[in-house]
Order: sequence, then structure tokens, then C-alpha cells
Amino acid sequence: MMTRQRTALMTEAFLGEARAHFRLLAYAQRGDEEGYPQLARLFRAIAEAERVHARNHASFLDSVGSTQKNPQAAFHSETFVNGVAYPRLLREAWALDDKAAIWYLTAARNAEERHAKLYKMALQHMVADRLSVYFVCENCGWVAEDAAPDLCPNCGKPAASFRRVP
Ligand SMILES: [Fe+2]
Ligand SMILES: [Fe+2]
Repeated sequence: MMTRQRTALMTEAFLGEARAHFRLLAYAQRGDEEGYPQLARLFRAIAEAERVHARNHASFLDSVGSTQKNPQAAFHSETFVNGVAYPRLLREAWALDDKAAIWYLTAARNAEERHAKLYKMALQHMVADRLSVYFVCENCGWVAEDAAPDLCPNCGKPAASFRRVP
């Protein structure tokens, strides 16, 4: 089989599993909220299984290059999403006057801009000489270096909303 065909079909499988993973986590959360802990647990278990599938399929994606090249690719991807993709979605959300969508899309766009900046710093070897640790805001996806800030600079949540990334 042509490599490109294989990449296309494995990408489709990956996207389906990734979507299922997050949908099932949302089902689990709803189950907990509505008082169905056992069903919530089942949804979480299957969500974890779909995550395993997505991870396995991801090994076939053609976009995983060498670590010499990946930061540049990741920088371009972040620059595209914060400069083009999210602004387009935000224009649509504004047209719909959908406040919740506007909030979440804005918070994500700002976080993506920050991600791009972190890659840029890495590309400029500003982080090459030291090992820093990162903390991610579980509310909005902001990435902080070295320590969790008292308040998330993007969404305003307290330091407790940050999770240290191993
Ligand atoms: Fe990002
Ligand atoms: Fe945040």
C-alpha cells in the first residue's frame, strides 16, 4: 500500500479515537453530575481505552519528524492556530453572539500564542542550557515556566488550577 494512503487512513482512525476519548470523558463528567457513578466509571474506562488506540494510531502520522525539526513544525502549527484558525472561529462566534464560545475560543487562542512563544524561545536556544519545569493551567491551557503563577495570566484562576508536567 502507498505510504500516503496508509497515513490518510490511520489519520482518520486517530481522529475518530481522539474524538471518542474526549466525548466519553464528557459523558463521564455528566454521569457524575447526574448521580450515575458506575456509568461514569465505565465511560472513563472506555475513554482510556480509546486514548490508547489514538496513541497507537498516532505513531503512523507522517507529521512526526526528528527532534531537530519538530520544534519548528510545532511553532508553525501554533502560529497558524492562534493567527488564523482561532480568529476565524472567533469571528463566527461573535456573529452568533455566543458568549461561552467566545470566552473559550479567546482563552484557547491566547494560550496558543503563548505556546508559540515557548517554542520560539526553544528555537532560539534560550532554554537549551537549563532544564526548566512547566505548569499547565487545567482551565485554559496556559503554560507557565518554573513555577505556577499566583493567578493564571490568561484566565485568572488561582495557582491550584496549574498542574506540573513531568
Ligand atoms: Fe497550542
Ligand atoms: Fe488559565
